[in-house]
Amino acid sequence: MLPFEQLCFAATTPGLEAVLAEEAGALGRATPVPGGVELSGAPGLHQEACLRLRTANRVLVRLAVLPTGNWAAVAAALARVDLSAVAAEGSPVWLESTVRHSGAPAAPALRAWLARTWRRPVHAAAGEERASSGTRLVLRTVPGGGTLSADASGELLYRRGWRQEVGRAPMRETLAAGLLFLADWKPEEALWDVMCGSGTLVIEAALRARAMAPGLGRRFAFERWPGTDRAAWAARRARAAAEAATAAPRPIHGSDLNAGALGTVRRNARRAGVLDSLVLARADVRALGPGGVPPGLLLANLPYGKRVGRRGELDATFEAVGEALRSRFSGWRAALLTDEPRRLERAVGLPLVRAHPLTNGGIPVTLLTFRPPGR
Ligand SMILES: C[S@@+](CC[C@H](N)C(=O)[O-])C[C@H]1O[C@@H](n2cnc3c(N)ncnc32)[C@H](O)[C@@H]1O
Repeated sequence: MLPFEQLCFAATTPGLEAVLAEEAGALGRATPVPGGVELSGAPGLHQEACLRLRTANRVLVRLAVLPTGNWAAVAAALARVDLSAVAAEGSPVWLESTVRHSGAPAAPALRAWLARTWRRPVHAAAGEERASSGTRLVLRTVPGGGTLSADASGELLYRRGWRQEVGRAPMRETLAAGLLFLADWKPEEALWDVMCGSGTLVIEAALRARAMAPGLGRRFAFERWPGTDRAAWAARRARAAAEAATAAPRPIHGSDLNAGALGTVRRNARRAGVLDSLVLARADVRALGPGGVPPGLLLANLPYGKRVGRRGELDATFEAVGEALRSRFSGWRAALLTDEPRRLERAVGLPLVRAHPLTNGGIPVTLLTFRPPGR
């Protein structure tokens, strides 16, 4: 058993820290900090976090909390770190380092010193090794303290394993899961993504509605660590798999103008194992109505001026979504992601509940949530 598993850091997209802290609260003590959540709990915490957290992009296991003070004190602590649980003797490590100590060596000299001290090759982390066989370490130091951590996830966690095809402007699965939490959606409520594209939001919703752990379809870096008890991990995975329901409480609706995108949703959803929880249709939001579906949450990641379509067409699209909400979808709540929040708020014309800033693929965006009038 790893002696240091009780302390982890789960990283997320800026703006989702509070959501991640709430999710992670089910696994241990969770404290939101900028960029993620500090998490402490029982041994195996990093495994549970990788397997179950829907809004974490990666999970780090703390190997050492470094002392405050000068570089010499930090260096002495680094020299004492025992890596045997995360990397076999003599095997290479990849180091991602941010060192803000005067007197500390520059990154190449630091790696050379650590390689002599730890008696193993220490390479600069470049990103590609996430998917390969190495152990990735993350070193952050400031004079007020620091941490050395091992990256338990490997490939970033938004790569769930099911998305092998993307649409023109896909969002990360972790952001999609975050939007559903921010919109306060519960699987018992009807959900309709009226611009579903390649289906990230509806597939994430279906996974949650069926209590399917997001990491069941992929592997993690910690599986290769010498200290990982393989039988205990297999049991943990089997437990999570057994919790999954065979059906969602109610179907999840997705529609899009683009027939090609719907084919992509179907194939992605089949790989994710949730196709039978989705109701998909090719439809223009200008003519779309809920049919017999009771009021719930209308959701959309709207076209971006910069990415999909042209800025001049946006007003008409925003107006069409507003019109759908005020007439055919009356009684529905809405959660709309946009890079033009002011224009969208004007076009929708419903009571605004909240404007939550986020980023999507480096673009500043806002999630606007609206309630129906009179509620
Ligand atoms: C930003 S993309 C959504 C991406 C999606 N969330 C994903 O992860 O793949 C916007 C989508 O809106 C669709 N769209 C644009 N105008 C539409 C309209 N009038 N009715 C329905 N869908 C429309 C586009 O085909 C595109 O798939």
